[in-house]
Amino acid sequence: MVRHLLKISDFSKVECENVINKAIEIKTNSEKFNTALMGDTLLMLFEKPSLRTRISFETGMQQLGGHAIFYSIKDSPLGKKENIHDTAKVASRYVNLIAARVYKREDIWDLAKHSDVPVINMLDDFAHPCQILADFMSIKEKKGQLSNLKMSYFGDAYNNVTYDLMRMCALFGFKMDVACPKGAEYTPEQVVLDEVEELSKATGAEINVLHNAFEAALDSDIIYTDSWMSYGIPIEKEEERKMAFMPFQVNSKIIELAKNDVIFMNCLPAMRGYEQTAEVIDGPHSIVFDEAENRLHAQKSLMLFLREKY
Ligand code: CP
Ligand code: NVA
Repeated sequence: MVRHLLKISDFSKVECENVINKAIEIKTNSEKFNTALMGDTLLMLFEKPSLRTRISFETGMQQLGGHAIFYSIKDSPLGKKENIHDTAKVASRYVNLIAARVYKREDIWDLAKHSDVPVINMLDDFAHPCQILADFMSIKEKKGQLSNLKMSYFGDAYNNVTYDLMRMCALFGFKMDVACPKGAEYTPEQVVLDEVEELSKATGAEINVLHNAFEAALDSDIIYTDSWMSYGIPIEKEEERKMAFMPFQVNSKIIELAKNDVIFMNCLPAMRGYEQTAEVIDGPHSIVFDEAENRLHAQKSLMLFLREKY
């Protein structure tokens, strides 16, 4: 059966660990892998913008000896100009891997259902698993372990990155406090809470959603935030969202409440003065650029895994 990565919990904890460990090996010895996917092609379908994801996948595939195709579906949304079934079937005849960044989760589920080659989610409205692999690789590098840690997340929790962070913290038995405004448009969907509860039963993870940033920050090993204005949110919503999220901004007071060696993470893009202050993102606790670099290594590892090269 063809494996896909549509959300991080499509992989087991052991599979995530394997991908992360291989990514660390690739990072330290990249020459060893420069023909590992010789002759392979990755198709990248984009319906929304990207800096990191596009560049890191394209560069990563090239560094493995393969080739990546950037295909914008921005102006002809997937499933309209050509149905997803046909897109998946045709692309499967040409390429070895398909990656897609789409607005609606149903579109990538459909793509995977009809594809004969592995499909990688490069971000939809439900998950961002490539980001989370790079994030946990970064945590392992900085903390030396992926256990007995507390992550606290601040801001938009009705959000793709938050959902996959919650799933991954559940898989790895973390304690996690998600601090967000009240209201359905800012808090996690029930389907995600249910999945996370189920995953946590096996690992003893404690994942809580709360509405007090100071409480969430206490004893944190990792502080994480994501954009208040995810791709696709209309500009008219900006002021309303800014007011709702401001009590959850990561500033120096939040950092002071965490552990002394806390790391600050943001998947980027970031706005100084919004999700976090400049002194936090540009300060000594921030690892955001190492985190961004690790997208490259983690995705190289992921592509090797899906091509059954280890
Ligand atoms: N973090 C991330 O996925 O960035 P891009 O939107 O620039 O790809
Ligand atoms: N939540 C953000 C993540 C960007 C990488 C968005 O969807 O835009």
